[in-house]
Amino acid sequence: MISSHAVRLTATTAIAAILACAPFTIAQAQDAAPAAQPWLNKDLSPDARADAALAAMTQEDKLTLVFGYFSTNAPWFTAGTKRFEFPKDGLPNSAGYVYGIPRLGIPAQWETDAGVGVATQRSPTPRLRTALPSGISTAATWDPGMAFAGGQMIGNEARLSGFNVQLAGGVDLLREPRNGRNFEYAGEDPLLAGVIDGNEIKGIQSNHIVSTLKHYAFNDQETDRNMIDVKIDDKAARESDLLAFQIANEVGQPGSVMCSYNRVNGYYACENDWLLNQVLKQDWGFKGYVMSDWGATHSTVAAANNGLDQESGWAFDRSAYFEGALREAVNNGFVPQSRLDDMARRVLYAMFAHGLVDDPVQGDKADTIDYAAHAKVTQADAEDGIVLLKNDKGLLPIAKTAKKIVIIGGHADFGVLSGGGSSQVYAEGSKHFDGEGPDGFPGPLTYYASSPMKGIEARTSAKVSYLDGKDVKAAAKAARGADMVIVFGTQWTGEGMDVPDLNLPDNQDALISAVAKANKKTVVVLETGGPVVMPWLNNVGAVLEAWYPGSSGGEAIARVLTGEVNPSGHLPATFPASVDQLPRPKLDGDPKLGPDTHPHTDYDIEGAAVGYKWFDKKGLKPLFPFGYGLSYTAFQLGGLSAQADGKGLKASFSVKNTGAKDGKEVAQIYVAPATDAGWEAPKRLGGFVKADLKPGESQTLTASVDPRLLGTYDSASKTWTIKAGDYKVMLATSAADIAQTVTVHLDQQTLNVQGK
Ligand code: BGC
Repeated sequence: MISSHAVRLTATTAIAAILACAPFTIAQAQDAAPAAQPWLNKDLSPDARADAALAAMTQEDKLTLVFGYFSTNAPWFTAGTKRFEFPKDGLPNSAGYVYGIPRLGIPAQWETDAGVGVATQRSPTPRLRTALPSGISTAATWDPGMAFAGGQMIGNEARLSGFNVQLAGGVDLLREPRNGRNFEYAGEDPLLAGVIDGNEIKGIQSNHIVSTLKHYAFNDQETDRNMIDVKIDDKAARESDLLAFQIANEVGQPGSVMCSYNRVNGYYACENDWLLNQVLKQDWGFKGYVMSDWGATHSTVAAANNGLDQESGWAFDRSAYFEGALREAVNNGFVPQSRLDDMARRVLYAMFAHGLVDDPVQGDKADTIDYAAHAKVTQADAEDGIVLLKNDKGLLPIAKTAKKIVIIGGHADFGVLSGGGSSQVYAEGSKHFDGEGPDGFPGPLTYYASSPMKGIEARTSAKVSYLDGKDVKAAAKAARGADMVIVFGTQWTGEGMDVPDLNLPDNQDALISAVAKANKKTVVVLETGGPVVMPWLNNVGAVLEAWYPGSSGGEAIARVLTGEVNPSGHLPATFPASVDQLPRPKLDGDPKLGPDTHPHTDYDIEGAAVGYKWFDKKGLKPLFPFGYGLSYTAFQLGGLSAQADGKGLKASFSVKNTGAKDGKEVAQIYVAPATDAGWEAPKRLGGFVKADLKPGESQTLTASVDPRLLGTYDSASKTWTIKAGDYKVMLATSAADIAQTVTVHLDQQTLNVQGK
């Protein structure tokens, strides 16, 4: 991934650097010559403004907009004696910088990672910001409003940190539970992932900055991510991963899409005509710009002509493909001038459409961030994403009578785990423990200073003690005689690596088994990147999946454990019983392969039958099904009716809280053809609603099912077709717990590629 080619400071760079130094403000530019600079007229449409600005640009201006720099010094990058140093107007230790055109009032682009907040590249002095729970945790809330609120909060911190492009919005489907980046994404279902991610993007962009839908597409494993070639046919692709991107794009309207590292059907994603020109731009009508992932550009002519609009993060690539080489390629006619114009225009369009020009960022204003308010946002998100997986005999919430609680492992006396890599947010007090995790990227393995133990101590009168769990015998001994034992099971995952299996690492399964043997009242709290197996499940009393719960995550866990908050998260991904149940029991590729190899993986094995769809189709019983989650109260779902509605259908149903506590239930609507209609799997999630109910309260709710989820995609005609016939509509609390089913007749429908 990391190139050792020369940093070439060509004329483009030099001119851009000079222009970037010229003092100016947007306000001055607007006041000075509004008539001569019509693109600064807010009353015009973003399209008209982009056209006008483009018309005023020189060739060098256009080239400036399509070439981005890494905004961190890169000691790993040497060209002779030269080191890569980030542009002086970039923000230190951040992801990227693209020069602006001050003469025209077009600001620079300051780019920051990522989906859980404002990240910092590894540095002794990271910026300290609020971290949301992991993306998969937010997906586990099944609450689009929560995703929006989280996005709005981190977008505000990005803006006040001086950034106007946030590289957030990871929606790659969880096809592979061992993927080290599952924590950044939103689970395995295209509807849930698309809606959650789209809302996060919308929230971020409400701050007048651009957000970036990524990693487009099929970057579903980290092993060999820079060269693995994913094989998948068009139909299966459009009904699975691409549908997640399509929905997220419709909901979130991101200014930018980031193409991924991997190849798809033989071509790198960042020079893939099918993905970029045909699907994204032509079929979905995406008007923003495609930026490459850092080090994912592999050519000039092929990349430009096949749809890449902006090369990112120089000096990650092997060559500065969109710098001097692109100028040459346009001069020589290999890349049409109209294409370079389109590339620059797309960047401009996104900047106008999302307010980057009208409401420019004002540099570093981080001292004005309302961290106290933001802590509440991330805590609420974490609380609603925690999933109660098991609770025998009402072991949780912690009994008021408990006198002695023993807490074991996971640095629960200090805080909670976070995921590693470019998305790493450092928060006030966050800490790396010596000897844990890799020395380099995607480390440092980082814990946030939000202690579940302290949160429990503050809420109970019990005597609470802590052991790190390294000595299994001592842990089991301490567990004996306690009123409750809470073991924290952690699995650190990070960018650039997958986990070898789904077991908790470092002997933790043995630790949990030994503790559970010593005391039946053992609760396991998991902090994992995604699904794990639980060989000790039958022997423990309760299990909470808390994911990576963000910088207020310890408080969130404590509030759920003590019953101050009733858990309401539901799994956004199937937890398999073993890797043998997966389409690929062994991951394809090999971490030891070099960059010039060409490994393959075949997604046509499962096609669009990702996650629960695969399990349904194969009749496999997972450890925990997609959509699963318990509560401290009880709910009754019923009164289901459904009818055709527009080109899709609408379901109406009721949810009643029949227990004694306030609580939230995730009502799920699954759909299935009554007779074979050529679907990839027996059923699909068609809709969902999260209802907040007082004891005894009942609500009547509705969910509309998008017609694409009732049909199949035809590649030749680029249409979705709903077959005439009977369809089952199921009201459920998980993919395996169906409360009620009704049948509805649908007429034949044909929809265009956008599902309309
Ligand atoms: C990651 C992207 C990230 C970029 C910039 C890459 O390694 O894959 O998600 O936005 O770096 O830091």
